[in-house]
Amino acid sequence: MENTPERTERKKRLFSAIQPSGEMTLGNYLGAIRNWVAMQDEFDCIYATANMHTITVRQDPKAFRANTNKLYALLLACGVDRSKCLLFHQSLVPAHTELGWVVSTFTQFGELSRMTQFKDKSQSHADNINCGLFAYPSLMAADILLYQADAVPVGADQKQHLELTRNIAERFNGIYGKTFIVPEPYIPKLGARVMSLADPTKKMSKSDENTRAFILVTDPPATIMKKFRSAVTDSESCVCRGENKQGINNLMDIYSAVTGKTDEEIVAEFAGKGYGDFKTAVGEAVIAVLEPIQRRYTELCADMGYIESCAREDAAKAAALAERTMQKVYKKVGLVR
Ligand code: TRP
Repeated sequence: MENTPERTERKKRLFSAIQPSGEMTLGNYLGAIRNWVAMQDEFDCIYATANMHTITVRQDPKAFRANTNKLYALLLACGVDRSKCLLFHQSLVPAHTELGWVVSTFTQFGELSRMTQFKDKSQSHADNINCGLFAYPSLMAADILLYQADAVPVGADQKQHLELTRNIAERFNGIYGKTFIVPEPYIPKLGARVMSLADPTKKMSKSDENTRAFILVTDPPATIMKKFRSAVTDSESCVCRGENKQGINNLMDIYSAVTGKTDEEIVAEFAGKGYGDFKTAVGEAVIAVLEPIQRRYTELCADMGYIESCAREDAAKAAALAERTMQKVYKKVGLVR
């Protein structure tokens, strides 16, 4: 990446990753991936599918491998641009797990026990509370520290993990001298927290049993429209924000995120109109944003061999960057490399 002309030494490096577990929701797109695209010009971005993290929950091998490459294609379709960043699969760069192990020896049992995501996931997967699930934050810290990232975009659910990463980096630096950059949280400019369409007090999640609760980026337009038309709202009729109007608040957030309209503009647009008109408008606006992505995605999926070769090519570049950190770390710790 050093030889990419538009990248100057002074650009800050940013790392992020997304798990290839199932499909991408509208919430993932508006809350995270749209920002991946926006951040490409400002930062020196390194992006990965975190497939090593995904196996902390049992996967069907065939579907999992296909999903990993499909997610890669979808990220490209969303506008992640390999001429500006690196995009690869975590499993293609062995240094993630190598550093992950070293980092785990600088992570305390007590710290991992306090991670709220671990507590939540051990509840939802009570039959398989494995060591990988427990050590997940150590591997995540390694992902970030490996590339000497200055910044990591964080939503609320990953804040605690980044805080731990910073503590581990400082701890290691304190013992061995400056080795890792201590990463800063980056609050993305286009913040959007998309809630469930069936229960707007919950975050939109692809693991929801009710498929009407979430929109997938790959949902056909008719499905998207049907889901918005059946979105849970309230018994009033005013398209405006309110304390007990979580459903309408959510639809306003989504509409604003995809059209760029302000609350005042939305309220004016739907004055005197009902929820039905508003839901249809939100559906249409979302379809308009997703259609070109879906078209590119279909084109890209026609050649999965090409998709995987892109991931391998960028992984080789990432591995070269990672090796610099690995050399330093092994030397400091006293491991033969
Ligand atoms: N844990 C993140 C998630 O589930 C994915 C992830 C893995 C990640 N490694 C990372 C995110 C490093 C940011 C930085 O969403």
